[in-house]
Amino acid sequence: MSRATLARDPDEVTRMFDEAAGHYDRTNTLLSGGQDRLWRARARAALALRPGERCLDIACGTGVSTAELARSGAAVVGIDRSPGMVARGAARSLDLRVGDALALPFETAAFDAVTIMFGLRNVVDPGAALREMARVTRPGGRLVVCEFSHPTWAPFRTVYLRYLMGGLPRIADLVSSNPDAYTYLSETIRAWHDQRSLAALIREAGWQRVCWRNLTGGIVALHRALAPARQPGPEESDGDGDGREHGKQQAESAV
Ligand SMILES: C[S@@+](CC[C@H](N)C(=O)[O-])C[C@H]1O[C@@H](n2cnc3c(N)ncnc32)[C@H](O)[C@@H]1O
Repeated sequence: MSRATLARDPDEVTRMFDEAAGHYDRTNTLLSGGQDRLWRARARAALALRPGERCLDIACGTGVSTAELARSGAAVVGIDRSPGMVARGAARSLDLRVGDALALPFETAAFDAVTIMFGLRNVVDPGAALREMARVTRPGGRLVVCEFSHPTWAPFRTVYLRYLMGGLPRIADLVSSNPDAYTYLSETIRAWHDQRSLAALIREAGWQRVCWRNLTGGIVALHRALAPARQPGPEESDGDGDGREHGKQQAESAV
């Protein structure tokens, strides 16, 4: 069985997910105590999709997140780099495709809303992926990033980190088709941005009005943002005005 490293080599990551695809959905639900379903439902609500809108679900895996989004009545396309994960989702009647977050096979401004759930952490260049997401989103369109984050209450964080490094790999040994992938999961969660730092990365990629909300004490964070109302021309700069607006609009709320 293969596992990727913190270098997140794209081919290694893809091979690892191909091998984990077998019991992927069941393993996640077990390891999260069923919370993963709630987190995806919250991401769908945060995207505020309306019937008839077009939504892109990047790093859709087996389509479990795409299926959640499709409940809104929007037309949802899922895309993932792992053919094994996408093949696993074939039984769901969804539009799932194989493709890379870093080179999305869609026209500029093709979607009203774009999301990536538990995927950005696995991409070799998350900043480039966020810029590519901005490209395919229409001006004023919405972004939601649903990703593991950092629990905000120190005692809870300590217990959670013990679970990540001890309990989680042991459960994965029993139930996953690629248990090594879950050591990678623990390592990447610990090494990933905290809430504020991810918000900065999203802003740097050109998104506006970035804010976030913690779920389950900060185990997961939902970051929301809007695509700029229009793309600046080559002569225009994004001077101080934008910076001040971003600062004012940032918000944090915990549940
Ligand atoms: C943890 S799964 C998330 C699946 C699903 N969104 C969910 O909610 O369960 C992460 C997915 O990211 C995909 N992935 C990693 N790097 C990618 C890339 N560069 N482009 C597209 N998908 C990628 C993997 O193949 C894997 O299926």
